[in-house]
Amino acid sequence: MSAAAQSLMQNVTYEDLYHRWEQGGWSAYDIDFSEDRKGWEALSDIQRRSAMWIYSMFFYGEDRVADTLAPYITAAPTEEQAYFLATQQADEVRHSVFFHRFFKDVIGVGGESLQATLSSTLPQLNWGYRGVFDRLDRMAEELRKDRSKPKYAQAITLYHLIVEGTLAQPGQHFIEDFFAAEDTMPGFSGGMANVSRDEQRHIGFGVKVLSELIAESEECKAAVTELLREVMPHSIAVFTPPGWDREYTECYGFTLEDIYAFGLKLIRQRWKAIGYPIEEMPPGVFPFDPAASAEEISVRQIKLLEAGVTGEPVDRPDSSPEVQRLYFEMIARAADTEAVNGGQLTYQWRFSDADPWHIVIDNGSTRAEPGEAPNPNLTLETSWGDWISATTGQSNPLKMMLRRRIRPRGSIRELARMRKVFPPR
Ligand SMILES: [Fe+2]
Ligand SMILES: [Fe+2]
Repeated sequence: MSAAAQSLMQNVTYEDLYHRWEQGGWSAYDIDFSEDRKGWEALSDIQRRSAMWIYSMFFYGEDRVADTLAPYITAAPTEEQAYFLATQQADEVRHSVFFHRFFKDVIGVGGESLQATLSSTLPQLNWGYRGVFDRLDRMAEELRKDRSKPKYAQAITLYHLIVEGTLAQPGQHFIEDFFAAEDTMPGFSGGMANVSRDEQRHIGFGVKVLSELIAESEECKAAVTELLREVMPHSIAVFTPPGWDREYTECYGFTLEDIYAFGLKLIRQRWKAIGYPIEEMPPGVFPFDPAASAEEISVRQIKLLEAGVTGEPVDRPDSSPEVQRLYFEMIARAADTEAVNGGQLTYQWRFSDADPWHIVIDNGSTRAEPGEAPNPNLTLETSWGDWISATTGQSNPLKMMLRRRIRPRGSIRELARMRKVFPPR
């Protein structure tokens, strides 16, 4: 969002957003796909495989968001918000119908029923994607039972900011650009332009709701922070292509790094517009180097994902010096230095199968370095794989200690303090 768009958002009312919905109406059944079949067949094999992957995520996603929005309507604190959400639910149904038609009439997969076509998407959905959308399903259940403002704020964060704003919009942006430039699938391009316009309205609504809730309540702010922390491990892994084959995006003229950088810029702009910039969030929510550009951060994040250090768990995460450096720098940025109270604190890691590293927290500043530190407050002996699985939440760190897979050397008091400095996710 540009600065102009941002100030526009602040003045826009829920009635305006409703009005834009009335004016922007379109029909998924009126879209003419007759030319698109030729365009589809002219794509290369990898382009078709990639499109199946990306559009399976879209189609499944549109169906899920259509189904899970109802409790938002009943939990909305004002009638104006409830009315807008009801229009949004109709939009999501229309998007789902649009993709169903595209799958059936252009790609030629699926069946007559929505359910049959939807089942064809399931094998395409990766670990990160399933994690985010399972959470969206559970969120709808939670919101049904708990209509409080903090729960509503969490639900809007997950639905409007993460799913629509961070996952769908960057995907749409790149793929839409490609087909608009090629002009070989006119029905699809026209439909996607309508979908994007609707999504912008939905995201605008989410930004407005959160800016109000966060301004009025610390409790809502804390709830939003908690949700962001919870979903991050999965949401960063959604764009992981099948078999880490970079051709999946590059055949359409963009890299994985491009899509991440684009997403990250949107995240920064939106949370700023909400009045809760990511730099003001507690350490560890977005553990990125504040001095780095979105492009630099994306390169680093994708290296960590590809190494198996973040994202989908792997048996043997990479422990090359570069990966270890990126990992420990990220951990160092996640340290809550206030818990140290101004003193100095050193944590040492000794791995059975990788180089040792340590982190020094000194008077509010934190650094990560390779090798052994002279007098660590606490030393953790473990293997690289066990440590990664404990920090990514696959295995419980306390159980790992009981089973001696992680062996802390130092006092119980230091171990307890470490849980304050690095709060478990
Ligand atoms: Fe949608
Ligand atoms: Fe939407």
